[in-house]
Amino acid sequence: KGESTLSITVVGASGDLAKKKIFPALFALFYEGCLPQDFSVFGYARTKLTHEELRDMISSTLTCRIDQREKCGDKMEQFLKRCFYHSGQYNSEEDFAELNKKLKEKEAGKISNRLYYLSIPPNIFVDVVRCASLRASSENGWTRVIVEKPFGRDSESSGELTRCLKQYLTEEQIFRIDHYLGKELVENLSVLRFSNLVFEPLWSRNYIRNVQLIFSEDFGTEGRGGYFDQYGIIRDIMQNHLLQILALFAMETPVSLDAEDIRSEKVKVLRSMKPLRLEDVVVGQYKGHNKGGKTYPGYTDDPTVPNHSLTPTFAAAAMFINNARWDGVPFLMKAGKALHTRGAEIRVQFRHVPGNLYKKSFATNLDNATNELVIRVQPDEGIYLRINNKVPGLGMRLDRSDLNLLYRSRYPREIPDAYERLLLDAIEGERRLFIRSDELDAAWDLFTPALKELEEKKIIPELYPYGSRGPVGAHYLASKYNVRWGDLGEA
Ligand code: BG6
Repeated sequence: KGESTLSITVVGASGDLAKKKIFPALFALFYEGCLPQDFSVFGYARTKLTHEELRDMISSTLTCRIDQREKCGDKMEQFLKRCFYHSGQYNSEEDFAELNKKLKEKEAGKISNRLYYLSIPPNIFVDVVRCASLRASSENGWTRVIVEKPFGRDSESSGELTRCLKQYLTEEQIFRIDHYLGKELVENLSVLRFSNLVFEPLWSRNYIRNVQLIFSEDFGTEGRGGYFDQYGIIRDIMQNHLLQILALFAMETPVSLDAEDIRSEKVKVLRSMKPLRLEDVVVGQYKGHNKGGKTYPGYTDDPTVPNHSLTPTFAAAAMFINNARWDGVPFLMKAGKALHTRGAEIRVQFRHVPGNLYKKSFATNLDNATNELVIRVQPDEGIYLRINNKVPGLGMRLDRSDLNLLYRSRYPREIPDAYERLLLDAIEGERRLFIRSDELDAAWDLFTPALKELEEKKIIPELYPYGSRGPVGAHYLASKYNVRWGDLGEA
């Protein structure tokens, strides 16, 4: 460790993501002793700031899990001493050459590894990558670049972005983040499947009736309308976060835990899927709503959103995997903003017990009596399996119960933020949780035709009140495939 130095340059240092996620995650890693001994953090942005002003910004927006601890202050001081600021244009090679000088000063002739985090809008990705790679790459160590979505808005623009980035970087240098892959329960998905005998044998069309991937937020696009309106919920959540979870859920056993083996299995699943069809999507948009004397704004009330925007803030979709394991099993996705609750879950509904002896003993009807495995990604992380159980007492009555693994009781230690795990992996060169370019292409191929059609046909989203359960169309879509949505958060 001591022989080399690491510099992490956050490009777009004054942006929201940098403040809320990246700096706090870097501090948490430092606090936990996970950063190399010799490291420095540079903020790069156009605004003129002093080192002190950057440090104030970092310490005042420290939102990570560490900030309540004793002695956090001492560590913070030590961390801030390693943070520096460099102001420059995003397309100026000279400004990056200046950055290079400052980096070199800190590196003092040692082997230098450089990590760039591009926390900037996508239209300047390529400029920054060009300038950084030509003028501020490491000469004797590695240079890696973390990029965050949006990676284009369809197959074409994403392919174009990849081609442009690859003029300056190799695939090995590009770390495409999908922060859902850094979430504890998403990482655990493979452990659950592949290290427990009881699940894997059931993991197929023979026993699984449908799989639901649900994302819900109880707030709107507040302040992010400008970005969001260009993309919409399908590109913002489904094409990446939910589809990545689906791929991990459905992939075959990888040859090993190596990044390439895992990513190859994920690509295989994506390439076995049928592109989403328009008749299998429902889109919605939230409208203003008064509740308990409070007014909640509609999506188009956001001043950064055009008045007649048709951008969906909610979508439900049914997708299918054309392979021997999953043929005919609906994978239903649902994602929405400004809904009644916040959460993300994977719900696996199993088939009926054939010739069930206890049919008559159920308090409710049989449809409710199938097993269900729920993986609650957030909040209140947990895994539970709904089973049928005899109600204790004389007589024979069955009801539904849960075998429940609640993380906060079983693992009281706080769970690291996804960005901590992902930053650490990028530093260590572990690519397992990053998206390879062929995965990205396959993901876009699944959504591009339906997205184009939605836009060309100007499909009007079904309005739903802010804070509601979303458009009723989602239920019709599910019932077309004999599915009833599970209730988020229901344990
Ligand atoms: C981002 C989306 O990728 O994920 C946001 O762009 C969304 O719209 C966010 O709010 C949700 O992330 P998390 O970790 O808060 O569930």
